[in-house]
Amino acid sequence: MNTDNVDLLVRGAAKFTADLPLPAGGLHAMVAVSPHAHATFTHLETALAAAQPEVRAVLTAADIPGVNQISTMAHDELLLADGEVHCVGEPVALVVAASADAAWRAAQLVTADWVEQTAIVDARDAFASGDVLTPPRTFASGDVDTAWADCALVVTGCLNLGAQEHAYLETQSALAIPRDDGGLLVHSATQSPSATQRAVATVAGLPMNLVELQVARLGGGFGGKEEQATPWAALAALGAVATGRPIRVAPDRRDDMRITGKRHPYTADFRLGLDAEGSFVAYEATLLQNAGCTTDLSSAVLERSLFNATSAYTIPNVRITAASCRTNLPSNTAFRGFGAPQAIAVLESAIRAAARELGVPAMQLQERNLVSEGDVSYYGMPMTDVRARECWAELVARHDPAGLMVEAEAFNTSHPLVSRGVDVIPICFGIAFTARPLNQAEALVHVYADGTVSVATGAVEMGQGVDAKIQAATAHELGVAAELVHVEPTTTSRVANVSPTAASTGADLNGAAAIQACRVIRAGLDKIDPEGELEWAERVERALVERIGLSALAHYTTPGLTFSADTLTGRPFSYHVYGAAVVESTVDILRGTARIDRVGIVHDIGRSIDPRIDRGQVEGAVVQGIGWMTSEETRHDTTGRLITDSLATYKIPDLDSAPDVDVTLLQRESPGLLGSKAVGEPPLVYGLGALFAIRAAIETVRSDLSNDVVAPMTPERIFTLLHGPLDGGGGSDA
Ligand code: MTE
Ligand code: HPA
Ligand code: MOS
Repeated sequence: MNTDNVDLLVRGAAKFTADLPLPAGGLHAMVAVSPHAHATFTHLETALAAAQPEVRAVLTAADIPGVNQISTMAHDELLLADGEVHCVGEPVALVVAASADAAWRAAQLVTADWVEQTAIVDARDAFASGDVLTPPRTFASGDVDTAWADCALVVTGCLNLGAQEHAYLETQSALAIPRDDGGLLVHSATQSPSATQRAVATVAGLPMNLVELQVARLGGGFGGKEEQATPWAALAALGAVATGRPIRVAPDRRDDMRITGKRHPYTADFRLGLDAEGSFVAYEATLLQNAGCTTDLSSAVLERSLFNATSAYTIPNVRITAASCRTNLPSNTAFRGFGAPQAIAVLESAIRAAARELGVPAMQLQERNLVSEGDVSYYGMPMTDVRARECWAELVARHDPAGLMVEAEAFNTSHPLVSRGVDVIPICFGIAFTARPLNQAEALVHVYADGTVSVATGAVEMGQGVDAKIQAATAHELGVAAELVHVEPTTTSRVANVSPTAASTGADLNGAAAIQACRVIRAGLDKIDPEGELEWAERVERALVERIGLSALAHYTTPGLTFSADTLTGRPFSYHVYGAAVVESTVDILRGTARIDRVGIVHDIGRSIDPRIDRGQVEGAVVQGIGWMTSEETRHDTTGRLITDSLATYKIPDLDSAPDVDVTLLQRESPGLLGSKAVGEPPLVYGLGALFAIRAAIETVRSDLSNDVVAPMTPERIFTLLHGPLDGGGGSDA
């Protein structure tokens, strides 16, 4: 029987949280939300909603049996608003009804005696008024202030990056089922089973051992379900506790888009200094993150921006200051790359500005300054087994980006109305949760009497193939065929206190824990068959007779992580992932439209456990990055309401717009699972090449482009850069 996740997905047999049948007596719930970006209120008017047919209950903050608090990091996020709302879409009440439709309709009838307050939506405005969730933090090395004097060239500029909607195929969803012992079984589409379990317990007023949280699989998370699956699970739990009935909460696409947070928009100022040979001497940047209205994961995202700010380059004098700004938007959250892509875009913008100033290809400066073996990162981590130059050389050998640039130039000379642009971008991405305590995992392995194996971890399968990698690791360590190993759905009662499946560490952490557990079982089996002469099935039979344990729970911690919060130096990461990409674009000069035609990638994967999965991850990530840089634009109206609230108005890449992506996996023995490397997030950074490839195409006709970089490069923006501002052209959020 094929129980493989991919097989289930392809056959349409895989069940998601919203596919689970609602148990008998089950009800549906939907939130009533704030219509204002910032307002206070003293009274919620719920009577009209409660009087609607099918409506069974309307619950507010006062009905929460436990504590009205769902934030993991900062304890600044209420489940239901209490006297004040901080963004459009903030939940204020929960309507429970016999049908989802009735719950949704009644939720629209909840009102309040709103008193509107000043709302801020722009990060710079928030920063200017001192409204920060994380005050400015600075990571530095060398001495930037004196280094400017040694520079032959100093360029300055700024960058404005827009948000990004996660656009997971499966929208947020939860189902809470009351148990006879007073506890709750909660099915939740979450990347963070334990954090969600904890929030449910807090809100329901239950101890954690009476809340079991299950996640079969996700239809995509991309970071959007690391922290923001929690409210939906807690709302379902609240409804279940209040009514004693199973409760399903599953917003539709539009509500999901309106209510949940996105990738953090950043606005940044940069200054890069180079010597006469083109070596980077000094780099300074200020990063302002638009966090939205609560902390969520913003401070961790900000920290990763700081860590990744020098990307794949070694720069002796660096000072990066970053602040998380509170605005009246739904709280922004984790998104593939977790703040790194934003910070990297700032430095890459600075490099393109310097190249333009010097009249040399950016490639020349990039290659010269790539991180090399033995360099020390600007946060003090000695860089070993560095593959930046190897990936770069392999990219040059396979795709000849300099040749492509020459071809593009020739093409552009003979085509005045179409312009091609080529850009190259390297990556160097640190792997580990920057929050050290999260770098641990546990696995529970059972070998059954018939020789089949089950492995349970805290990992959540969301399409990234973590289950297949855990299966491979388990099979490898036990020396059995992969078909004998079944990866269990994730539940907090099999494995507890799990880290989110995030930071690209899912396979490294949970696969290693599975290996540890297999080692315990193998040690037992070795006692009865030290020479390894018996067939697997026979060994298992003998173990049962000899009373040898065939189950093990094991714990794994990532070794060697020693970052000091006091000195801000040390080893925050287990290793780095390298790579390089070339991105080719074509811009239609009259229309202002652009296509990304082709992407060539050389990606450092280690010993790939399954090249099909890893290629899929690289391709998906780069296309997602390209979408963020080109067509994906969020817009709010003047009242702070999201206008781009459907996939008709918010445009993600599709089969037509996605480029041809040629991926070469550079396979070298590595420190990750079975000699592999983590793959989930880093390749998204290649997508930044789309921004610069389009700018390169524009530059062939507009040599006066400024150093102020804006993304996404929508047709409207390209047109404006080519032909000047349109009368009455509306600004967007970037
Ligand atoms: N791939 C698919 N198909 N769906 C997803 O939701 N999430 C990405 C990446 N790849 C995602 C994905 C993100 S944001 C992360 S952090 C990693 O997968 C998480 O899984 P891993 O740690 O097992 O790589
Ligand atoms: N990456 C992703 N998710 C996280 C991290 C991180 O570094 N820290 C906390 N959650
Ligand atoms: Mo990924 S943004 O760490 O879920």
